[in-house]
Amino acid sequence: MSIKLNDKYVSSFINGHEYARMQAQVTAADKMLREKNGPGNDFLGWVDLPEAYDKEEFARIKACAAKIQNSCDLLIVVGIGGSYLGARAVIEFLKSPLYNNLKKNTPDIHFAGNCISADSLNEILALCEGRDVCVNVISKSGTTTEPAVAFRVLRTLLEERYGKNGAKERIFVTTDKAKGTLKQFSTEAGYETFVVPDDVGGRFSVLTAVGLLPIAVAGIDIDALMAGAASASHTYTDADITKNDCYRYAAIRNILYRKGKTVEVLASYEPFSAMFNEWWKQLYGESEGKDQRGIFPASVIFSTDLHSLGQFIQDGNRTLFETVVDILDTGSSFEIPDDPANIDGLNFLSGMDLNRVKKMAMQGTILAHVDGGVPNILIEVSERNEFALGELIYFFELSCAISGYLLAVNPFDQPGVESYKKNMFALLGKPGYEDLRTTLEKRLAD
Ligand code: PA5
Repeated sequence: MSIKLNDKYVSSFINGHEYARMQAQVTAADKMLREKNGPGNDFLGWVDLPEAYDKEEFARIKACAAKIQNSCDLLIVVGIGGSYLGARAVIEFLKSPLYNNLKKNTPDIHFAGNCISADSLNEILALCEGRDVCVNVISKSGTTTEPAVAFRVLRTLLEERYGKNGAKERIFVTTDKAKGTLKQFSTEAGYETFVVPDDVGGRFSVLTAVGLLPIAVAGIDIDALMAGAASASHTYTDADITKNDCYRYAAIRNILYRKGKTVEVLASYEPFSAMFNEWWKQLYGESEGKDQRGIFPASVIFSTDLHSLGQFIQDGNRTLFETVVDILDTGSSFEIPDDPANIDGLNFLSGMDLNRVKKMAMQGTILAHVDGGVPNILIEVSERNEFALGELIYFFELSCAISGYLLAVNPFDQPGVESYKKNMFALLGKPGYEDLRTTLEKRLAD
């Protein structure tokens, strides 16, 4: 197992009997999940996915990734939310946030359709100039505005450049197996399609074709990623929180929440984790934030953010707790050089590995934050590789589901996401929204 929960730095905030009193609720949450009779029980496909995935499609994903690698130097991945964050998180975590800038024998990968920005779309088009391009459009519903607009533009570009038949060989679609405009359109156009399973929601879909196709294009070993997730699915089966780190994490979060710790800051000391933090924020934010409840998920990259949000975490409003993800072996080291003149006074660090400096910064920060009244949960990940990341993804997905059930919300829906869409459609004049448009325009004018 690559993951270990260290709860030493929450012990001054939680008494032993509080864990014992949480056990019955965790057991009930586990039972609902395993017996598939809790809220959102038709979205539990991710639980068994690491082993019960579609093997034929998995082979097709690998073949398609090889085809994309051989036919383009730029892949544009179009999608938003759960149809975007997982792939980018894994690619940046395992390769680099500078993946596109580094020398490699796999295509550059850029992401589009995850915002409403003319600047951003124009930049994507500029990147396509003079390069061979493939597009992977991902939308479970097949109707989301942001990716639909970007796809319309990119499809036109590819058809103008390669002709309809040529474009067909370069457009790959990941969507519902039967429903939605995108599915219907893809069938008519003859695009190769991959499936977002009915019982897997967007934010739990990174280990389906949604995440796996772009991840495989980046040259990442998706077998090892799935094997890691499968290993985690076997490890975290005991409902006893003294034996199950994943469930203990959920229990600690809930205990802290009930003490008024309503903001969780996910902290990492590695810039390659920044997008993973974004994935985690969506997972927990969309799963828990409903019925006027939930822990607000925030994130930081230290030591960078120790020079910005660090002040608030140390000394601001005491509603925070931190979860620090510590990657014990990132696979890199760097020895700090000696300077005989010691002009900068840094010779006490000469010959020291930067990893040791990082470790001391982390340990010092944890102690300071605990002293400042911020409980720290430490999640130690043994190394930076596919297997460990697969485990970590599953660890967070499972603990998120248990956390949601502990809060008594449905962790698998996202009704709140619809409100902005309704208003936006009305204000844009989409047919069927005429009355709402009148009301909203009046409110804006008043
Ligand atoms: O987690 C979710 O379900 C959402 O974030 C969706 O992934 C997001 O809204 C995109 O939806 P779709 O894949 O239908 O375009």
